[in-house]
Amino acid sequence: MRPNLILLGAPGSGKGTQASLLVQNEGYSHVSTGDLLRKEITEESELGKRVKDIMEKGDLVDDHTVLQLLTKNCNLQENSYIFDGFPRNFEQAKLLEENVLNGSKTYAIYFHIDLEVLITRLINRRTCKDCGAIFNLLTKPPLKNGTCDICGGVNLDQRKDDNEESVRNRLDVFKSTIGPMLELYEGMGILKKVDASANPGEVTKEINSILE
Ligand code: AP5
Ligand code: MG
Repeated sequence: MRPNLILLGAPGSGKGTQASLLVQNEGYSHVSTGDLLRKEITEESELGKRVKDIMEKGDLVDDHTVLQLLTKNCNLQENSYIFDGFPRNFEQAKLLEENVLNGSKTYAIYFHIDLEVLITRLINRRTCKDCGAIFNLLTKPPLKNGTCDICGGVNLDQRKDDNEESVRNRLDVFKSTIGPMLELYEGMGILKKVDASANPGEVTKEINSILE
């Protein structure tokens, strides 16, 4: 089996974009805790109601809730996984190792980028409500205005947390939590880095060379 991949990076650094390419081209399974939480909100579940305000502000949901969602939605016996948005802090990194990975071969790929460019990226992101495809009004607009290139759906949404205030908070949360995770994965010898400021095709090439 291929190594599992943990995508570590700031909000907007391109984790979701690269994950969907790895699913299409390399056959990985993808689990994004952000997507799972947003699904709970859309379904108006008890969990969704509890996390809605926290996510809109850009704060972190508690570790236990997110770990439970993650373990319910992945099975490492079946396939190799991309973990996108988990772990978010040192404690979650430990929980992932002990409860999910249990020593299976994994790389942690850090999407390195200057944080200032991410505000513009995120404010201009649009996501297809029907199939999840990710667009950007500046750098990757849909071919036909308002219509998804992939599924033809006409609901290209802006995420509730993609406004300047929430984005700034998400970036602050990221800055305060990333250091210990990088140290942990560096110490385990599984940390890899990519230049996330390059165009998406270049980032994909860098990831592919890690996988070779
Ligand atoms: P989550 O959904 O994980 O969001 P995030 O980490 O803030 O990351 P994003 O999804 O915003 O960015 P991305 O890196 O996927 O970028 P994308 O590829 O879309 O989490 C949301 C919230 O859920 C959290 O704030 C928290 O509240 C909660 N949560 C989730 N997980 C949690 C956990 N484990 N613990 C606790 N709480 C949790 O790209 C962004 C834009 O840039 C797009 O428009 C794209 O087209 C464009 N783009 C992508 N790549 C490039 C490139 N190379 N060049 C130019 N543009 C690019
Ligand atoms: Mg994402």
